[in-house]
Amino acid sequence: MTKLTRSALEDLVERARKAAQHSYSPYSKFRVGAALQLTNGEIVTGTNVENVSFGLTICAERAALVRAGSQFGPDIRIDAVAIANLNGLASPPCGACRQMLAEFILPDAPVAFPMADGERTMAFSEVLPLGCEMKLK
Ligand code: THU
Repeated sequence: MTKLTRSALEDLVERARKAAQHSYSPYSKFRVGAALQLTNGEIVTGTNVENVSFGLTICAERAALVRAGSQFGPDIRIDAVAIANLNGLASPPCGACRQMLAEFILPDAPVAFPMADGERTMAFSEVLPLGCEMKLK
């Protein structure tokens, strides 16, 4: 995994938890936050924003990702990800978020998220092995 210190990763988890306070989740009541550490030194957070249609709901991770791209442009790279929720439940990133993160994340980037037995940190390449990619060359 990349070089982020334990305390930097803990800070990132705290940022994710703070972001979850802004969750718009009247349907599931599941309040999720995500924080992305970018290689440019910036931290960008996001939360889940639900919709009455359910299917249009955006997860915290993807909310953070599109925010990071919108703020800092197409060359962003993600060094680490933290996910938290205020419900005391497990919340590894969903499949759609894993695939979206794959576009910008470094394979060695640590991904921290809560599991039933406590906090877990895994390299992104373990979180999404065999992600979809186009090998055009
Ligand atoms: N959710 C996230 O924010 N991230 C995930 O990776 C999984 C699910 C949100 C979406 C929805 O608002 C709620 O959790 C219940 O699925």
